[in-house]
Amino acid sequence: MVHVLMITDPGIDDSFAIMYALLNPEINLVGIVSGYGNTPKDISIRNTAYLLNLAGREDIPIVAGSAGPLSGEPVQFYPEIHGKEGLGPIKPPDNIKNIKVYDFNKILEIIKQYSGNIVIVSVGRLTELALMFILYGNNALKDVTAFYIMGGAFLVPGNITAEAEANFYVDPIAANSVMEKAHNVYLFPLNITNRAIITPEVIHFLSENSPTPFRPLLKPAFDYYYHAYQKNVPGIKGAPLHDVVPLMALVNPDFVQYIPRRVRVEETGPAKGKSIADFRPKPDPEPIESLDQIGLDANFQKFVVQFMEVFLRGNK
Ligand code: BDR
Ligand code: CA
Repeated sequence: MVHVLMITDPGIDDSFAIMYALLNPEINLVGIVSGYGNTPKDISIRNTAYLLNLAGREDIPIVAGSAGPLSGEPVQFYPEIHGKEGLGPIKPPDNIKNIKVYDFNKILEIIKQYSGNIVIVSVGRLTELALMFILYGNNALKDVTAFYIMGGAFLVPGNITAEAEANFYVDPIAANSVMEKAHNVYLFPLNITNRAIITPEVIHFLSENSPTPFRPLLKPAFDYYYHAYQKNVPGIKGAPLHDVVPLMALVNPDFVQYIPRRVRVEETGPAKGKSIADFRPKPDPEPIESLDQIGLDANFQKFVVQFMEVFLRGNK
């Protein structure tokens, strides 16, 4: 069993990731930081609270993340992909607004509590993770076992610009700083998450057979997200659940194949948010502690099977 602190911006694929973490018996979710990203911060927090409420897991602390990137630039949200409320057509009931939300220092408390045995899984913008290094210093985070991060696109097109993936693009200063400061980084770029496709057939099967409290959400949330992908990627047969990938990789060590390289992120200019690594056959030597494990291939059949297994198991 691995203790996991998630950083999220739900968002439809984030919501599937949260549900997956809640349902997987090998994952002990010890906190969820929710901030701006796919939706504004207050909506991300409310959606997180809704999922925890459905699961009967209000004991898991929700921590308020950031409202915008380190640059202070205005934020653009993505209702066309995730819906105005972040869950496609679903609007959580009004009573979900009255929830307890912890401030940022709760993160340090959680890390200390699980010191030496906690993994941070970041599937939103990188602002919160960068702020943790700024506020707490590298030393306080040395007892985090590993950082599993969804972000980047290496030598393949981005999904926000031709060059950049969304989580890196929106706060490239944070992304670059996290890549420099964090140790034991496992990175899950679009190279693999774009291929982690779940089809409507799978979701429709689960929406009839999943014994979980999330069952009514699965089809409407997925269909909204899938329709957006159909517009952006003509001919696509399903939708990529990017944010589920790092969690699945964490509990299935042979699911993803990694290549160790130092990752940098362009902070400004026309290639803002672009992730860079040296993939030449003979890359420049870099200190071993600066290398990040970049997931560049994965067993996508296993992804579908494992995803279904977890949603068919029921509450743990
Ligand atoms: C990432 O960006 C967000 O929109 C998704 O939730 C995912 O974390 C994919 O580029
Ligand atoms: Ca996300």
